[in-house]
Amino acid sequence: MHKNGLQVAIDGPASAGKSTVAKRVAKQFNYIYCDTGAMYRAITLKTIRAGISLDNAKEISAIVKNSKITFAPDDNGQKVFIDGDEITQDIRSEEVTNSVSAVAAIADVRQQLSAQQQAIAEDGGIVMDGRDIGTAVLPDAEVKIFLVASVEERARRRYKENIQKGINTPLEELQLEIEARDYKDSHRKVSPLTKAADAQEIDTTALTIDQVVSEIAKVIKNQLNIN
Ligand code: DC
Repeated sequence: MHKNGLQVAIDGPASAGKSTVAKRVAKQFNYIYCDTGAMYRAITLKTIRAGISLDNAKEISAIVKNSKITFAPDDNGQKVFIDGDEITQDIRSEEVTNSVSAVAAIADVRQQLSAQQQAIAEDGGIVMDGRDIGTAVLPDAEVKIFLVASVEERARRRYKENIQKGINTPLEELQLEIEARDYKDSHRKVSPLTKAADAQEIDTTALTIDQVVSEIAKVIKNQLNIN
């Protein structure tokens, strides 16, 4: 146990429900929530805005070095800022979503962002979601969860979220995009998306958000020796 509580790592593929449940779990235990995907997205957005090519690893590493990503708590989870500018909504654009895997595959980008994530999680009392939290960022996390769901269900979830945002991408196209991102995230050389040997896998395909949150809460309470 760390100073402020446990380190809870929640990993899994795109749209498996990680951020929704991670936020809820953090709230329940009064822990900090950290969305590491938002950090990769923030760097991707800044890269696109600067007109830098997605394969220019050197320039993108320099962007990470010279940027400050910060979070502020919000009713919906958290607001995200880069160099003081709020980018909470901008990092969810289709362009960023479809470009982020290329940025996340750059070894030096991962190294720098992982170090920042380790510093954020140092004192525990944190729920951190991503792709490599249980395997690479916080290998000693007391609780490791690996969330999965069928690709069809994940595409349906993205579709619903998009409709609420006024985006109308066909379901089939979303499924192909998710499959492409899964492939890139799982096949990159550095810290690919894999389940940690000591992680508990939860298949969320047929579960409600409440059910997933309560499953994870059970694991945490067990670790904390409370009922
Ligand atoms: O969870 P998300 O969709 O917001 O993540 C965006 C991308 O960032 C995802 O395609 C893979 C990458 N990512 C990563 O490589 N490692 C993390 N810890 C978090 C996200």
